[in-house]
Amino acid sequence: MVARTRAKPKPTPTSTSTQITFCAKNTPTVVKRRNPHGRFSNPVLQPHPDDLVLCNVLSRSCNRCANANANANGKASAEHAKAFNLDAQTIRYLQRRKRPLHFLSLFSGIAGFELGIYQLFPNAVCVGFCEIDKGAITIYLHHYPGARNLGDITQVSFKEFRTQIDLVVGGSPCTDLSAISPNRADQLKGTKSRLFFHFVRCLKECRPQFFLLENVGSMKKDSRSKMTDILSSFGGLEPALVDAAMFTAQRRRRLFWSNFKIFDLHSKSPDNAVAQTFATRILQHKYGRNRAPSILDIIEPKKIARDQAHTPKLLHYFNNEVGKPDKLGKRKRRIEAYGYYTRDSSADKSKCILASVGSDNSNLVIDQRFTPPLYRKWTVREVERLQGFPDGYTDCLRDPRDQLKALGNAVAPPVIAYIMQCFQRHLVES
Ligand SMILES: C[S@@+](CC[C@H](N)C(=O)[O-])C[C@H]1O[C@@H](n2cnc3c(N)ncnc32)[C@H](O)[C@@H]1O
Repeated sequence: MVARTRAKPKPTPTSTSTQITFCAKNTPTVVKRRNPHGRFSNPVLQPHPDDLVLCNVLSRSCNRCANANANANGKASAEHAKAFNLDAQTIRYLQRRKRPLHFLSLFSGIAGFELGIYQLFPNAVCVGFCEIDKGAITIYLHHYPGARNLGDITQVSFKEFRTQIDLVVGGSPCTDLSAISPNRADQLKGTKSRLFFHFVRCLKECRPQFFLLENVGSMKKDSRSKMTDILSSFGGLEPALVDAAMFTAQRRRRLFWSNFKIFDLHSKSPDNAVAQTFATRILQHKYGRNRAPSILDIIEPKKIARDQAHTPKLLHYFNNEVGKPDKLGKRKRRIEAYGYYTRDSSADKSKCILASVGSDNSNLVIDQRFTPPLYRKWTVREVERLQGFPDGYTDCLRDPRDQLKALGNAVAPPVIAYIMQCFQRHLVES
């Protein structure tokens, strides 16, 4: 006798109410328009044009809905590309592309890379991510429920992904590389920063077509050369230095290694015109204008800022300890390292936000809207904006210190969106 099996119920598309959680800053409206599957019947979200999350909304609904496969033909990409004002050649390329971009995300944190990738490749499929920090994982899975966490990178074999992966991305820890790290002498030998070699192992094991690696701009030349040498055996180029200040109100200089060309935003060569066009698209899409925000554009109202005032104990610390040798007597504390900010025009960008931004002795703001100036901390909302994340992105964590730590570790998504345009250009031309 043949056993009769019941037909599996079709999964239902993601509800719009879940999607709305992405869009805390600009409440999206629900409109009827052609959805990622080419039908008009289902209402889809129309987020505000400066909301980075547009692509996530599309890609989440695509990945989870019953017609995910039918969607893989690039229709959504092309639709999105138009919204993003990409050139005709790129749109044609996206329409022709049969298979969505498959990528692996390493040291994923709160998905800073993912936000940038989905902006340009809304159908992209993340086959897995590697993260061990509880807070970061909570935020990641809040935005990408059902994503596969491969866990501790040192324990993962990437062989199972061989030939499946188009792109591997990641920002390996900079704990022992950064100029302000107490363990700076260790560089690539440091317990955290040597995890870079697991990124390299991943490239060896799964042999992706492309890779993108991020790390701090302030590492020693030796480490930079060593990393460049190692990655050159995978077709890697000299790293590109990109400062998030081009897209946000924060100075954050980061090196990016890749085996596709990242256009230099500061060069005087003809490439600079291409770089500026890409940068303008990001700014127009996110802020509706051609210039990056300054501190004044992202700062919270005085009423909220007042609650962030530093304690007298901490002010004493800043007044008396900064500038003196630290406990180990090895190096001077530098005021800049702790991020003093003013409201005058000479300080329109914040110093680099650190992972320790939530702890007491880091990233101080001198808010000169107050008389006398108020010494205070950044709010979570301000740090989300300084990093280029949507407002409320980390609100699924309850403790602001955890939110700030996760944000301080992250890569700025608008920078990744810029690099993804360079990547797309490479794909179109190759
Ligand atoms: C520089 S941060 C990268 C953040 C990420 N790019 C983002 O946008 O949030 C490095 C990340 O690597 C993670 N990490 C550290 N050791 C790890 C390990 N053994 N396996 C996987 N991830 C690890 C840290 O928790 C941290 O989130």
